[in-house]
Amino acid sequence: MMAGRRWAFGGSWRAALYDWLLGPFERRVMPPFRRQVAGGASGTVLEIGAGTGFSFPYFNNTAGRVVGAEPDPGMLGRAVARLRRSGTGPGIPAGSLTLVQARAEALPFAAESFDTVVCTHVLCSVRDLDAALAEVRRVLRPGGRFRFLEHVRAAEPGWARFQDAVTPVWSRLAMGCHPNRSTLARVEATGFRVQTLQRFSVGLPPVHPHILGTAVKPALKQVAKPSGEAARR
Ligand SMILES: C[S@@+](CC[C@H](N)C(=O)[O-])C[C@H]1O[C@@H](n2cnc3c(N)ncnc32)[C@H](O)[C@@H]1O
Repeated sequence: MMAGRRWAFGGSWRAALYDWLLGPFERRVMPPFRRQVAGGASGTVLEIGAGTGFSFPYFNNTAGRVVGAEPDPGMLGRAVARLRRSGTGPGIPAGSLTLVQARAEALPFAAESFDTVVCTHVLCSVRDLDAALAEVRRVLRPGGRFRFLEHVRAAEPGWARFQDAVTPVWSRLAMGCHPNRSTLARVEATGFRVQTLQRFSVGLPPVHPHILGTAVKPALKQVAKPSGEAARR
């Protein structure tokens, strides 16, 4: 299962800066959201774009096993350090959270091998959003859940134009983050059925508004068995 390149140690100044800049926001704003996204994950769980591991303490005993996938070696190095320092959430035994170096667009896992996929603030940064979502769908079992927290393109045309204007510069400064993505529409276009959805703002333009939700990979439709005349043909 763990076929991708394993994590590398070391971290980097970029990953350290990320932790330093986001630390206060993590402590003051993010806990209730992480409790919903990671805390509600169940079964065999994949977190894509796990970053430096801010979600790790929030997984609980509804998650049997958690795999964190992260492509950036610096972020991964810090995730490893965090795991050693603080461990996992209350219900996960040590050792049942493993890390692998992988991009969301090319996940090194078999089809239908996870019950839940989790992501927070990742789909704004992936290079190919549709390819990443197709991979999430592929690795989820039918009926499996995709739990996400993302900031998305604003509904107000003025805000959206502002996001379009700042995206080229913003994405260079903020590790590839695109504030102007219509992420929810892409999730639905990938074939997910959105089950729960909250929209809100944490007042950080241009990354506004946020969406927090759960989408389900529909179970395969039962193909009716041919009977009678049709079955004999
Ligand atoms: C804003 S950080 C969020 C990290 C973490 N999910 C969190 O909530 O703290 C975005 C993360 O997405 C990762 N990322 C960028 N491109 C990616 C890709 N193509 N596939 C998966 N993760 C990616 C970055 O390396 C970074 O760790």
